[in-house]
Amino acid sequence: ERYFAVSAPLAGLRALVTSGPTHEPIDPVRYIANRSSGRQGHAIAAALARRGATTLLVSGPTAEPDPAGVEVRHIETAAEMWAACRAALPVDVAVCAAAVADWRPATAAGEKIKKAKGKAAPSIALAENPDILAGLSAAGNERPRLVIGFAAETENLVENATAKRRSKGCDWILANDVSPDTGTFGGSDNTVHLVSASGVEDWPRMSKQQVAEQLADRIAAELKRAS
Ligand code: CTP
Ligand code: CA
Repeated sequence: ERYFAVSAPLAGLRALVTSGPTHEPIDPVRYIANRSSGRQGHAIAAALARRGATTLLVSGPTAEPDPAGVEVRHIETAAEMWAACRAALPVDVAVCAAAVADWRPATAAGEKIKKAKGKAAPSIALAENPDILAGLSAAGNERPRLVIGFAAETENLVENATAKRRSKGCDWILANDVSPDTGTFGGSDNTVHLVSASGVEDWPRMSKQQVAEQLADRIAAELKRAS
């Protein structure tokens, strides 16, 4: 019994994790997406499940296998991701690691858009997608006790992440530098800074796996402290 308590600090708790990119259809064969690999989000879901949490992973299309011990809901668009997340509430902790497309084509064409001699290139009008992290943070009496997001930035990392934490209404933001020369987007390492109400903590560069383990340990400590 003691072994169980030590090895499964999140037993009896529910976790929700978003991961991967979203695909926003232009027409039946084309979409807007981004370079997210889903590695970080999938690793976080696996780490939470290993600590005993009942874990739901809502993921866009990725090459990552479904993590062991995790229930996975595969979605394509931001609207589908938001619907799946809302349906998963209540949960104790939510981690939004997905690279949700900020915009989608305002209307997806029903048939493949054709080119023709002399026809001008089409323009794509965009509409804003639902913000899942902000939505979960404002979920009223269904708000998870701990809501965590990422801030993908290419400049003014900590300043932007601090502002993002406030504007989203979440508890923690893991700020990561996604400038192309860091290799973060799609790569296996991550350098993050944990931004909370009590300040900024710089974590050393480590694998996304190690970021997931460290974050899961912090989540377990926080939920224990708050319960
Ligand atoms: N996020 C989300 N839903 C969206 C957009 C973002 O849940 N529609 C979440 C991401 O999963 C991440 C956090 O919000 O945890 C920040 O995402 P990011 O793209 O860095 O911030 P944005 O608010 O979209 O601002 P911008 O892209 O303009 O920097
Ligand atoms: Ca964004």
